[in-house]
Amino acid sequence: MNIIIAGFGTVGQSFVQLLMSHREFLKKAYGLVIKVVAIVDSKGAAVSQRGLDLNLVMRCKREYGTVAKAASVGYEMNLLEVIRSVEADTLIEATHTNLINGEPGMTHILNALQLGLNVITVNKGPLALAMPMLKEIAEHKKLALKFSGTVGGGLPVLAFAKECAKGDRVVKVEGVLNGTTNYILTRMEDGLRFDEALVEAQEKGYAERDPTLDVSGMDTACKLVILANEVLGKRVTLRDVKVEGIAGIKPEDIKMAKGTGKTVRLIGVADESEVFVKPLIIDQSDPLAVKYTYNAITLTLENSGRHTITGKGAGGRETATAIIRDLISIKEHLLVT
Ligand code: HSE
Repeated sequence: MNIIIAGFGTVGQSFVQLLMSHREFLKKAYGLVIKVVAIVDSKGAAVSQRGLDLNLVMRCKREYGTVAKAASVGYEMNLLEVIRSVEADTLIEATHTNLINGEPGMTHILNALQLGLNVITVNKGPLALAMPMLKEIAEHKKLALKFSGTVGGGLPVLAFAKECAKGDRVVKVEGVLNGTTNYILTRMEDGLRFDEALVEAQEKGYAERDPTLDVSGMDTACKLVILANEVLGKRVTLRDVKVEGIAGIKPEDIKMAKGTGKTVRLIGVADESEVFVKPLIIDQSDPLAVKYTYNAITLTLENSGRHTITGKGAGGRETATAIIRDLISIKEHLLVT
């Protein structure tokens, strides 16, 4: 497969590292041979139809802060020009989440689909703002639009949901979908102040570039929109979600819950009638009462009841594995070579 990567932050770089270290494994286990023909970052681009030298790309990013010096072609090109100048079948969209207008990810995804490329996005913004429209365009163009890394990091939540739903119907999705806020709430149970816990969460590298996206519940809301569309078949966007974050949670609330065998968790809930994000008091024995940066998603099925999947919900390397999963799925289903 020939791929273009847009956005070369933590996830993009972890993905390239994974490609280098797992090249033989991916070829042997899945017949997956990936050629990175272009990478675009915020300062420029590197393009090579023969395939970029990934060691050189990583070195340039480290030393000069951009991939643009890693190839003699492409250093001033934007993504549209890059797509037009190389033969590629798939775009990996890994720029930062922007909830105002989804840019630059929105334009990247639209351009790629218009020009016949499958898309794998780990950027939540465009999906949160316009998932029904983007899915329609991809379907109309008969192209893949994959996004398993947008919810749960490396945790295969969407694949799990699909498997659970075979022969049954998912009627409700509930989840602890944000590692940063879950870390803060857990550390507050340990006795830390909110601001101390937030600094620790930022140090762990889980928080968004702007941590108010985490604290306000908006990051959870983005992931909930993706789940509601994909798992429940709802046509919703961020505008349809009632969102309350954790800024109003006081140490006394946490203490009181703890004293009665309960705990406070920021939970996203979607079912037939509503879609909301809110701190809820749940039993400490509830499968959603995960600690620290863990995520947990519970699906309620019409006949078989509640099923929960839990694991590390973020991180560069973890999210990069979700991109690999999507590439394998594109190869298997669309017979891209
Ligand atoms: N800021 C997010 C979190 C990163 O804390 O879960 C993963 O989407």
